[in-house]
Order: sequence, then C-alpha cells, then structure tokens
Amino acid sequence: MKVVIAATGASGTIYLQRLLEQINYAAHEIHLVMSTYARHVAKQEVDDFKIPAGVSQHSDNDMNVPFVSGSARFDAMVIVPCSMATLGRIASGSSDSALLRAADVFLKERRKLILVPRETPWNLIHARNVVTLLEAGAIVLPAIPSFYSRPNSVIAVVDTVVWRILDQIGLPNPRTYRWPDKAGKTSRKR
Ligand SMILES: Cc1cc2nc3c(=O)[nH]c(=O)nc-3n(C[C@H](O)[C@H](O)[C@H](O)COP(=O)(O)O)c2cc1C
Repeated sequence: MKVVIAATGASGTIYLQRLLEQINYAAHEIHLVMSTYARHVAKQEVDDFKIPAGVSQHSDNDMNVPFVSGSARFDAMVIVPCSMATLGRIASGSSDSALLRAADVFLKERRKLILVPRETPWNLIHARNVVTLLEAGAIVLPAIPSFYSRPNSVIAVVDTVVWRILDQIGLPNPRTYRWPDKAGKTSRKR
C-alpha cells in the first residue's frame, strides 16, 4: 500500500511512534509529513522520537511532494495525532501546506482520510467541524483507548488506538486484540 502519515501539534506523539513501529516497510510505501507544532509536541512528550529508516520524510512547506496531486495513486492518509486546529482547517477547505493540501486531495478523490483528533472537552465549533468532515467522507477516529483487553502498560493502552488505526488503513496487526477473542471467548492476555 501507499500511505501518507501526517502528524500535527496535538498531544499524543506516542500514537504516531507506535504506528510507525508497527508497519512493514519492505511491503509498504510510507510517506511522513509533520507540522511545525507536531515537532514541538514530539520534543515535549517523547525523549527519543524515532522515525524508521523505511519512511520517506517530507517538509510541510514543500508542495512538490507526490501526495498533493490527485493524479498520484495513494491508498490512505492518516493524521495522528490531529489537532483541532488542523481538523478545522481541513473542514474549511484550507490547502496552505503539504499536509492540508494532501487531506483536501484525499477528500476530493474519495480516498481514505483518517483523522485521529485528541482534544477534550469539545466546543461546538469542534463538533461542527467533525460533522463537516464526516459528511465529506473522512473517517474520524478519536484517540480514545479501550480497556477490555486489560492493557497493563502505557504502550498497551496506546496500542488499543493504534490497532484501530491500522485496521482502518487496511494494514491490520496480527497481534490486535479482538472481541470476542478466539472461539467466542474473551482473553485477558494480548
Ligand atoms: C504541548 C502541547 C500540547 C498540545 N495539545 C493539543 C491537543 O491535545 N489538541 C489540540 O487540538 N491542540 C493541542 N495543542 C495546540 C496545537 O499545537 C496548536 O493549536 C497548533 O496551532 C496546532 O498546529 P498544527 O495543527 O499545524 O500542528 C497543543 C500544543 C502544545 C504545545
């Protein structure tokens, strides 16, 4: 698959880190674009943020990246974490950066665009922007973990969200805890 992974300045760099760690780069073409604030927040939240060698990195200021044209074939774009600022800009049709233009292109081409917002509580503007994006065909997958798998570490909690992102992209992780697990029985172990 050809996938764009974008990151913005919402809290949750660890979701991005875990997503990047669970992709097979020999099998898939992954492009990464980070906003200026995504880099600020990454420094704030993660001591050693690592971008795997197989990832193609792009500047958010560069409109010559392949995924900003509808003619380039891509399968999915995920914005993780997605700030409410970026969510609102996409909902308003702004295309002023590579990241925003790519999101706009994915919507117009009816390609899969997955937004992973992290904000709480929401105001009415946030809620209306989410509705606008759902109406335009986006998938809104808030960074809300689940606990029925009994996660026993921060990473395990984070992965409950990352696995849902991978499912939506179309790159399911075989280790994903699913309900009901095995022959209709639930398991407390991952
Ligand atoms: C440490 C830190 C944490 C932040 N957390 C959030 C957040 O969880 N959600 C959010 O919508 N914005 C958050 N922000 C605010 C955004 O970074 C800010 O709105 C920024 O303009 C987003 O720009 P971008 O979408 O271009 O990355 C945070 C900012 C900082 C510095």
